[in-house]
Amino acid sequence: MCGIIGYVGKQPAASFIVEGLKRLEYRGYDSTGVAVVAEGRISVVKKIGRVAQLEQELAKRPLAGTFGMGHTRWATHGGVTDANAHPHVSSDGKIVLIHNGVIENYASMKTFLLGKGYTFQSETDTEVLGNLIAYHYAKAAESGEENRCLASVRKALRHTEGTYGIVVMCVDFPGEMVAARKGSPLIIGLGDGENIVASDVSAIVARTQSVVYLKDGEIVHLSAQEFRITTLGQSAVAPLVDRVTWSVAAAEMGAYAHFMEKEIFEQPTALENAMRGRFSEDGSTANFGGLNVSAGEFRSMESFAFCACGTALHACRVAEHMIERFARLPVECDYASEFRYRNSPLFRNTLYFVMSQSGETIDTLAALREAKRKGYKVLAVTNGVGSSIAREADGGIYQHVGPEIGVASTKAFTSQLLIGSMLALYLARMRDMSFSDGVTFVKALKGAPDLVRQALGQAPLIKAIARRYAHVRDMLFLGRLSLFPIALEGALKLKEISYVHAEGYPAAEMKHGPIALITEECPSVFFAPSGEILNKIISSMQEIKARKGPIIAIVTASVELPAGLADEIIVIPECHEAVLPIVASIPVQLLSYYIAVERGCDVDKPRNLAKSVTVE
Ligand code: M6R
Repeated sequence: MCGIIGYVGKQPAASFIVEGLKRLEYRGYDSTGVAVVAEGRISVVKKIGRVAQLEQELAKRPLAGTFGMGHTRWATHGGVTDANAHPHVSSDGKIVLIHNGVIENYASMKTFLLGKGYTFQSETDTEVLGNLIAYHYAKAAESGEENRCLASVRKALRHTEGTYGIVVMCVDFPGEMVAARKGSPLIIGLGDGENIVASDVSAIVARTQSVVYLKDGEIVHLSAQEFRITTLGQSAVAPLVDRVTWSVAAAEMGAYAHFMEKEIFEQPTALENAMRGRFSEDGSTANFGGLNVSAGEFRSMESFAFCACGTALHACRVAEHMIERFARLPVECDYASEFRYRNSPLFRNTLYFVMSQSGETIDTLAALREAKRKGYKVLAVTNGVGSSIAREADGGIYQHVGPEIGVASTKAFTSQLLIGSMLALYLARMRDMSFSDGVTFVKALKGAPDLVRQALGQAPLIKAIARRYAHVRDMLFLGRLSLFPIALEGALKLKEISYVHAEGYPAAEMKHGPIALITEECPSVFFAPSGEILNKIISSMQEIKARKGPIIAIVTASVELPAGLADEIIVIPECHEAVLPIVASIPVQLLSYYIAVERGCDVDKPRNLAKSVTVE
């Protein structure tokens, strides 16, 4: 939800900012803008469209200067217009700012500011905050207050309700930048004679790998040479400097056509990274550092609860299946957005997990806070090192799959599935699972990257199938047990990137409603792995076939379907139950990807979406 970047240094600001915006574009991409403060003036170029269009505009109207900021927007308040694009300049021309988040009390602020003579060019909440900062700045200037840029931001934020990550500059103090966060991520990149503030590290790794993760309620005041963090209440904060462990190449597309394609094909390596060093020496169970919950505490838990959004919730649903199946412990799964308001009764000895690729999803963060408020320990499974969720959780498990840039989650999802299975193993081995079953389980997990490689080998076949079905308007995804969440995920993948209406259902449940959709024009993707209920799945396929619905079957290697039942067959390797959902995800990721490409969709930046949803 909006990418922001601010730069103070000795290099030309605009070109660096544009490069940063390209890396942040996945966070929002309906409009973009850059502002530079130089020679007593704030100059802004902003427009609707992508960063590439902004770049063309900047070629016509270059912005010279070494202090500046840039923004890529996902609209919240106000439509997608040039005027609503950021940066916003206060009506007295003193303050320029960019913002990620939502100012909830903007209406009352605006009424107050209109009364004071401030005027507005846009419909955004951001411009209101900019003018409020300008109002406090003017008062501070009158009284000759020191550090007025910082002081005016602090005063304005004390009256601000909602969420924000902001970068502010003042025309009178070029070379100074103030940034603050509450609920929206911000990091500080520490360079050589330059400092950068950005929504995430991808925007800064080309220049520096030294970062400080700003916390909620903190303000940073920077120049090219130094930075100082304080709280809203003016207490000094000792910064903790971290090192980013991945390089800029990890955030580049290389020879692939899209980030999504790259990330799908990276999955064998991503899985290896997610499991590295996480098995016991005797090879019979999983080990996690950083849980901050002792084995004894884990052992005493009577139930587990998972909260997440979107794809991460589907991974939680598979974890639910695995923990119940192997550890025989009850698990609850909930939409984070519902959990936070549902006030559901909870068992006393319950351990909470939240899952989030970005670690910044506001609903998931709010669910974490709600569970903690109720006195529960909450662990996070996240890919976002240093993210809000990682920091606020009591402990957790990093996914270690590197940056995921495509809006559609793929490698993060399968690594979450892997971690769910590893958790199930860890819990099961504390209970009834034998040593030898544990060893078999571990071997199966270690074999997952190779099985995924084999499944990826079906890409040419899946591409050809995608061509045949790319024109359809509706598609069903049907699976059972641990593959029901993969059916949900297949449907989500398809709809988010190709805009084809798709639904995921338990295969047998399909006859209680969705079967009404079945025509020759509505294909069904069936998961039909070998196992006890294969015949039941085949019966469901027969019901679809009887109504002339095309069938795309994803079967494991030993399955032989009745002749003519499926129109298309995609074979994946036979595998252990703990690994099956991971391997079965590959064909639906590829199918969605190729259908979206065939339909000419913008795969990495689907309409209306953003990678990291930091507004409620
Ligand atoms: O960063 P998170 O895992 O918390 O994101 C949750 C969802 O917004 C995300 O999974 C979304 O559903 C993806 N676009 C799915 O591909």
